[in-house]
Amino acid sequence: MQIDWSNLGFGYFKTDYNVRCYFRDGKWGEVEDSTSEEVTVHMASTCLHYGQEAFEGLKAFRGKDGKIRIFRIDENAKRLIRSAEGVVMQPVPEELFTNMVKRVVKLNEKFVPPYESGASLYIRPLLIGLGAQVGVKPAPEYLFLIFVGPVGPYFKEGFKPTPMAIMRGYDRAAPLGTGTLKVGGNYAAGMVPTVLAHEKGYSACLFLDAKEKKYIDECGPANFFGIRDNTYITPESTSILPSITNKSLIQLAKDMGLKVERRHVPEEELATFEEAGACGTAAVISPILRIDDLDENKSYVISKDGKPGPISEKLYHKLRAIQYGDEEDPYGWVTILD
Ligand SMILES: Cc1ncc(COP(=O)(O)O)c(C=O)c1O
Repeated sequence: MQIDWSNLGFGYFKTDYNVRCYFRDGKWGEVEDSTSEEVTVHMASTCLHYGQEAFEGLKAFRGKDGKIRIFRIDENAKRLIRSAEGVVMQPVPEELFTNMVKRVVKLNEKFVPPYESGASLYIRPLLIGLGAQVGVKPAPEYLFLIFVGPVGPYFKEGFKPTPMAIMRGYDRAAPLGTGTLKVGGNYAAGMVPTVLAHEKGYSACLFLDAKEKKYIDECGPANFFGIRDNTYITPESTSILPSITNKSLIQLAKDMGLKVERRHVPEEELATFEEAGACGTAAVISPILRIDDLDENKSYVISKDGKPGPISEKLYHKLRAIQYGDEEDPYGWVTILD
């Protein structure tokens, strides 16, 4: 098998194994290694009807030393527990999550891209509610599975700012809803504006808070940050996913001597940012070129010269250097696979 590592996109890629574990009769069973790409579920499963499902996304990187490093497994494990509890599913114990992540990466070791490619192995844990049931109540059984696949650098043309759109006719999540959880329903709710944004040439839809329509929430599948006066500013909201990338960038920003503010960010403040970006596992940082508020006919130009700002660039390289093992990992974010 020959893989053209440098030309991988961000999509599904068949590998040798996935790992699975069932929760039945009140306990988690043995971890199974599977070569099947299919899952057989009862047609009345709650995951199919009532959105009882949650997922995660994390990455493994091959360093110059050939070693494989997995980024912040514990954070993803904890977030999946919160997501599971938020839609009344059986939470996956942190130790089981960690062991299964390590196991599936090890089993698919040959699919972890080489250091030079700038690519990585995307890891997708998935928890679904199973069993024959029609009433709206929690499932009797659960399946936790993890598949992986090599993915390319998110930016085909390099680390380049892209335009984003505010579309006031759509909400992704309600203030007391499920926005803080990584559950499928949130992505379904955001699908129409996301497709529209792409059709109009934008890379993502930037959602405002659903109640007041005044504050920035998040950008598609990523958190938002802005930079002004040596300060890293990111929204405080009860309807956004707590991004592990954002949490890491906040720490790195502090280490670089920036001030950090996590608070409501009014839309008008966009006009004042020297830099802004979307951050998440897939892209690390996706710099923002311009934000158009399509219903108000307003446009906020963030990058005047079409290039990423210097602080975004520094944060991006610093985080990647830790992930690939090029620089020290002072906070123990990385798990090196044995
Ligand atoms: C809605 C949403 N917000 C933010 C993020 C970024 O989170 P993380 O940095 O943990 O990948 C993601 C992706 O996981 C997401 O789906």
